[in-house]
Amino acid sequence: MAAAGSAVGLGNIWKFPYIAGENGGGAFLIVYLLCVLLFGMPLVMTEFLIGKRSGKSAYGAFQELSGNNRWQWLSWLCMLTSFCIMGFYFVVTGWCFNYLMEAFVHVPSGLNMSDLSSHFAEVSADIPRMITFSLIPIFLTAAVLWFDVNKGIERMSKTLMPLLLVLMVLMAGRVLMLDGSNIGMRFFFQTDFSKITPTVIMEAMGQCFFSLSIGMGALITYGAYMPKGQNVTRTSIEVIVLDTMVALLAGLIIFPAVFAFGMDPAEGPQLVFVVLPAIFEQMSFSWFFSVLFFSLLCIAAITSTISLMEVAVAFVCEASHGKLNRKKSVLIVAALVVVLAVFNVLSITMFNISDEVTACIMMPVGALGMAVFVGWFLPRNGEKGVLDADKGIKRWAQKTYIAALRWLVPAAILLIFLNRLGVFR
Ligand code: PFF
Repeated sequence: MAAAGSAVGLGNIWKFPYIAGENGGGAFLIVYLLCVLLFGMPLVMTEFLIGKRSGKSAYGAFQELSGNNRWQWLSWLCMLTSFCIMGFYFVVTGWCFNYLMEAFVHVPSGLNMSDLSSHFAEVSADIPRMITFSLIPIFLTAAVLWFDVNKGIERMSKTLMPLLLVLMVLMAGRVLMLDGSNIGMRFFFQTDFSKITPTVIMEAMGQCFFSLSIGMGALITYGAYMPKGQNVTRTSIEVIVLDTMVALLAGLIIFPAVFAFGMDPAEGPQLVFVVLPAIFEQMSFSWFFSVLFFSLLCIAAITSTISLMEVAVAFVCEASHGKLNRKKSVLIVAALVVVLAVFNVLSITMFNISDEVTACIMMPVGALGMAVFVGWFLPRNGEKGVLDADKGIKRWAQKTYIAALRWLVPAAILLIFLNRLGVFR
């Protein structure tokens, strides 16, 4: 459940609709689902297995398993990626907290779409306010890591995640009753194959890595905490299915509403923050539903930021060889993240670059490294155990997993990179 909490977050509800909207709707969806099958399953399993086998975080795991330092660059990459993601992720979480507060006090943000759009522009350009609202989730996340209350958070997300799903189903039901919603359904589900470009493929791959939290070591930590008898294959399937369901539901809510309200699906990062308040206006008990939804969204974001920050905290703590204890490491990481978040509030260019580069380049490179490490390097090094950590798994399933990890995943990542660079044109 903790790993599912890491996966389900703003990537599903904020990022998925806006990236799908910019990349052709149905054309994006089909490529995205293929990426989830191709990359999601082998890579989620791989990260869990690295953690389970080594019992270490992303900092120590590669060294522990390989017995040397040559793979340490992967740990550095994981740490760097976690910082780059946190920089912008906390800003978006800050937007969520702002909208939660507005839902509470019911700030009238306008009735039509252009009012809602300019309201978002005003809010996100209000620098002191945005810095303040980004500090809240940074503080909460650091507090969870400081007091080591991960277990409590896990228990909380066990009840709240199903509640989020139920609420999203209700909202999708309401949106589908709006006039013109069928155009949005067609946009989301009808595949126009001519719209599948190299950029769409690259964005879909990036979104898959981001949404499933793969390629930066977050799931390695959760693997390290897994009880011995836990089935990695089943856990991976559960995480992937839940994550994909939430993303699909987000699409089912946002796109029908976008077309019913006469908006452009390619609005960019502000898309859901303009559409969601408009949806609540259409619902009865709008105050109740909007407060509930934004509360759950903030909690979903925090369960993701906990796993993001954990990667950096473990790195700083372990890299200092005991000079910095866990609490000091939390303070150092949180302070650095505050600086990064401020830069992301001040510079939209930095925000956009971090958003794009982490998902489309850094995470795929990290995942490529892990696939080669587990698929090729470890077996040669005499460490075959990582690949059969799951006792009782069927032979064919194991063979498929190993083949996917050794051949399919590295080849697909490289081909997608080369294709995007125009090598095949
Ligand atoms: N998967 C999270 C989301 O979809 O919001 C984002 C994320 C969390 C990415 C943790 C990476 C990570 F390590």
